[in-house]
Amino acid sequence: MIRAFDALSLPLLRWLDPEDAHRLAIQGLRLLPPVRPRTDDPKLAVRAFGLNFPNPVGMAAGFDKSAEVSDALLRLGFGFVEIGTVTPKPQVGNPRPRLFRLERDEAVINRMGFNNDGGDAVLRRTVNVSWPNTPGLRNLQQSAALDDLLAKVIDARERVRQSAGDSPVLLKVAPDLSLTELDDVVHIARSRRIDGMIVGNTTLARPSTLRQQTRAKEQGGLSGRPLFRLSTRMVAETYVRAEGAFPLVGVGGIDSGGAALTKIRAGASLIQLYSSLIYRGLHLVEDIKNDLASTLLRTGRDSLSEIVGADAATITAEDWPV
Ligand SMILES: Cc1cc2nc3c(=O)[nH]c(=O)nc-3n(C[C@H](O)[C@H](O)[C@H](O)COP(=O)(O)O)c2cc1C
Repeated sequence: MIRAFDALSLPLLRWLDPEDAHRLAIQGLRLLPPVRPRTDDPKLAVRAFGLNFPNPVGMAAGFDKSAEVSDALLRLGFGFVEIGTVTPKPQVGNPRPRLFRLERDEAVINRMGFNNDGGDAVLRRTVNVSWPNTPGLRNLQQSAALDDLLAKVIDARERVRQSAGDSPVLLKVAPDLSLTELDDVVHIARSRRIDGMIVGNTTLARPSTLRQQTRAKEQGGLSGRPLFRLSTRMVAETYVRAEGAFPLVGVGGIDSGGAALTKIRAGASLIQLYSSLIYRGLHLVEDIKNDLASTLLRTGRDSLSEIVGADAATITAEDWPV
């Protein structure tokens, strides 16, 4: 059914202005009947940050900023949904146009900003400390500011523990950090005992291999296929620095089961996607899960945790991806 839906909707959505298409997709998902999700292969289950995930494939932040369709996305087979970025007060974000498709590169550039309905309208929060498209926020990753911010977040978590229960805190980073900056970030994350890291956000870089060079000049964060190698390298670099202190969520350019597997072998316990859904459609989620399950079957393994980080050392020894 999802495949048929993709076949009908993708050409229409790709013909529309990207932001109108996104809005239409959200509206469509709101109308999704309350079908029961297909039960996942138990081998795909992941336990991380004290939570149980039925499968490791998540929707990345930025698609469902205001938590309008998270239940629908879970029903469609995602193992988890990251909502947000949410701000305390509602915001309209940057002026349009602010979202661009690079069709031939299977990529996206966005400078949406913090458009969202605000904390009051959103039941559960996502805390994002990194948003590379918003000037000034990149500085939050600088050591002292980050340490201070994480201390406050952890403190706030303790204060609401009684009413809200245990809430894992994850730190999301830009893939454009230098390795020295990453040393500092992981060190702070470990000393503040955060629960995990998400690696990573969109990149400000513009690989020379991009085919749509003119459109690539638009300001904003680049995501999708051209981000895959850099973000996978950063997952591996973070994995070796974290030394098992916390699990990682790997995100950036995942567009197939093979790409998901590479991200997991680089060090990701969970993965997320966004841009590839625009080009491949929602059935990609089932395809990735099927590929991961058959890999486990073929290699005689019981769980994905057995291969998390298996290639991290090899990947970090390779030439830096350009
Ligand atoms: C249109 C758009 C909006 C996004 N908004 C956010 C956001 O609000 N907060 C955030 O942490 N990441 C945001 N992201 C980044 C994604 O969560 C993800 O890290 C990035 O797109 C790389 O994954 P992908 O290559 O699978 O798209 C956004 C990405 C896109 C394309």
